[in-house]
Amino acid sequence: MKTLREAVQEAQQQKRAIGHFNVASVEMIQAVVGAGKDTELPVIVGVSEGERDVFGTTALVALLHTIREKTGREIYLNADHTYSVERVKEAIDAGFDSVIFDGAELSFEENIVKTKECVAYARASGRDVLVEGELGFIGIGSKMLDALPEGVAVTDETMTTVADALRFVQETGVDMLAPAVGNVHGMLKGGHNPQLNPERVAEIAQAVEIPLVLHGGSGITDEDFTAAISKGISIVHISTELRVAYRQSLQLSLQESPEELAPYKFMKPVISAVRDVAVRRLKLFAGL
Ligand code: G3H
Ligand code: ZN
Repeated sequence: MKTLREAVQEAQQQKRAIGHFNVASVEMIQAVVGAGKDTELPVIVGVSEGERDVFGTTALVALLHTIREKTGREIYLNADHTYSVERVKEAIDAGFDSVIFDGAELSFEENIVKTKECVAYARASGRDVLVEGELGFIGIGSKMLDALPEGVAVTDETMTTVADALRFVQETGVDMLAPAVGNVHGMLKGGHNPQLNPERVAEIAQAVEIPLVLHGGSGITDEDFTAAISKGISIVHISTELRVAYRQSLQLSLQESPEELAPYKFMKPVISAVRDVAVRRLKLFAGL
């Protein structure tokens, strides 16, 4: 079984991206694991701090490790958007394959100091845990948006610069970097999200050399994804699209079977709706 580091390096070399999907229920885990099975591609199951609290960190790691061992498939676990060093340490101790310290809203210097502390802890853990750093504010929360959140770095002037990315990577020693390159968390109600800047992706990728992660994948056009991946994005995060599929299919399922009480029955279409979204995204990211 490949480690996540090996899987991401392979994706980086082959100019394709691995799908990272946020989960907040057992059904969502089933859907993402199922999508990995359908496509025979690696998947990263992501849980932010709030999502982790739904399961309990230890229970979640035990569940995912068991699924991985029993199926023999590449299923990795990422501690997504973690805002304190303490919670990064907790995730490393619990056995996550990767952790993200999200200091995008901190000052550049403070982000460096705290990210560096996370990297040092990961290195001392005795396991190969990847640490991802964040540069540039792209909004918070996987939800439907009426308008772009205030302060998001989506213009060429405000998005992550090559110089900042390089300095950040050199000083922190992170394994992966999530830059702001036109991406935002959440999905605009009125249409597609802002366009990505694939040239900036290329410049940053060339300068830092480590794999780049694209957050805020929901609402991005297929063309933008393909361009950004060809320029150096090695992981793409998707959450809002899964949540929308989950909620819409659940509403429909309950409407169609108003008397049904067995969750494993009324949740069945929900799992397949979320699975379908993940399959479509995985294929696109892998160039299939
Ligand atoms: O970390 C999670 C994501 O970046 C997902 O963003 O909700 O816009 O797909 P999204
Ligand atoms: Zn994100």
